[in-house]
Amino acid sequence: MKDHLIIFDTTLRDGEQSPGASMTKDEKVRIAKQLEKLNVDVIEAGFPAASIGDFDSVYAVASVVKNSTVCALARAVENDIVKAGEAIAPAQSGRIHTFIATSPIHMEKKLKMTPDEVVDRAVWAVKRARDFTDDVEFSPEDAGRSEVDFLCRVIEAVIDAGATTINIPDTVGYNVPDQFGSLFEALIERIPNSNKAVFSAHCHNDLGLAVANSLAAVSNGARQIECTINGLGERAGNTALEEVVMAVKTRQDIFDVDTRIVTEEIVTASKLVSNITGFAIQPNKAIVGANAFAHESGIHQDGVLKHRETYEIMRAEDVGWSTNKMVMGKHSGRNAFKTRLEELGVVFETEQALNEAFVRFKELADQKHEIFDEDLQSLVTDNGNQNLENETYRMVSLKVSTETGELSKSEVTLWIEGSECSAVATGSGVVDATFKAIESLVKSGVTLELYSVSNVTNGTDSLGETSVRLEKGGRIVNGQGSDTDIVLSSAKAYINALNKIMADSVKAHPQAAV
Ligand code: KIV
Ligand code: ZN
Repeated sequence: MKDHLIIFDTTLRDGEQSPGASMTKDEKVRIAKQLEKLNVDVIEAGFPAASIGDFDSVYAVASVVKNSTVCALARAVENDIVKAGEAIAPAQSGRIHTFIATSPIHMEKKLKMTPDEVVDRAVWAVKRARDFTDDVEFSPEDAGRSEVDFLCRVIEAVIDAGATTINIPDTVGYNVPDQFGSLFEALIERIPNSNKAVFSAHCHNDLGLAVANSLAAVSNGARQIECTINGLGERAGNTALEEVVMAVKTRQDIFDVDTRIVTEEIVTASKLVSNITGFAIQPNKAIVGANAFAHESGIHQDGVLKHRETYEIMRAEDVGWSTNKMVMGKHSGRNAFKTRLEELGVVFETEQALNEAFVRFKELADQKHEIFDEDLQSLVTDNGNQNLENETYRMVSLKVSTETGELSKSEVTLWIEGSECSAVATGSGVVDATFKAIESLVKSGVTLELYSVSNVTNGTDSLGETSVRLEKGGRIVNGQGSDTDIVLSSAKAYINALNKIMADSVKAHPQAAV
């Protein structure tokens, strides 16, 4: 029997810390349901002390998830721990993850605390978290740059205080595999009570080594990996769930562990996270990139046709590719639509919301005959199409014209806080003209940092999914839009991002000084 490797997904917490990746409560619940289908052991649902919205999201996830442990993050302070404890209260199995920095640079410059004070605070935090749950995880933040002797001292003390998981974060992505693996070996060997806790790896990808470091930790005794779908996360991201899981599954000859992940759900999870956050997946991304299983060169194709294993180490269908079946069409009814979305984890809270989505589905089915799961996911994520609470701007109509050798022209009508306003602008293309027309109406003062369009499925009648990243005063938001017409899709994405910029959502960053 192999040891069980716990898969701890932090897409909804560390993943959400990527600039522009913030998600609404409903979006988090949708992702959490897909993570549950994937069978992840632990879902880190958020940082409840960040804002009321974050608290509500963690509470909502804790209320719906039944088969995975739901975890909340808390700094080692009273308010954070109480909020985390309250947010996971509805969970069938709930965990609090508390942390404090232990590297000399963080203790001195960020916390302004002595090492003795840090140990005392860590012990206090773990004991306080145990008032809410028996499942308490402790992280010495920036462990990758902490002194090993000091780590041993803190970790021994928090295990005595009741921590059941010890997570070792390489917070700044500085470690390399041999070194990170040796750190686990040293900690597990030297800490007298190390057998009373599960050791966990949490790696950031600044040097592109997050997955390699996590696997080195596993080879040296770690039995939990913290990771995110598509490697989403701050800066260069976190360990990619799909990569570590498939490495362990594919190289059973090397690893003494196994996961319980339903790997066939990986591609759906990847597309869902990309669709909701607007973070596109690079085509050559391992496991979930569009080219990950595509063979172009004639020699490779020939080899694969003769015998698959000549060039393929995994089967595309094992990670959920090729489940891309036509699911619905023009004649599909409201019940079939509702049932399929429920299977995809989308439950409408009101009949009205279902009816509105069904109308959008019918409009889409008129333009595009075959509707795939990806289209349905895109349809329900398309905020530019829905009546959102707190929306300041809404698209009413769009008319564009373009001609060889001439500037393109766009005429936009927006609903702005109750009244309709129109503007005309020209630009170097229809999208440029449209964004200029919108800006002439809203005068937002934002900077456009990213604009990208991708096809949801194949074919020129496919939905085009647009992501727009806007920056204003240091705040970054991503907006998404989808439509079979890419100009309309772009306009919706831009308006969606503007609405997010307008919404008041100031929240605390967990790794900032308290
Ligand atoms: O990277 C990090 O150190 C973290 C901690 C909060 C665990 O995300
Ligand atoms: Zn992190």
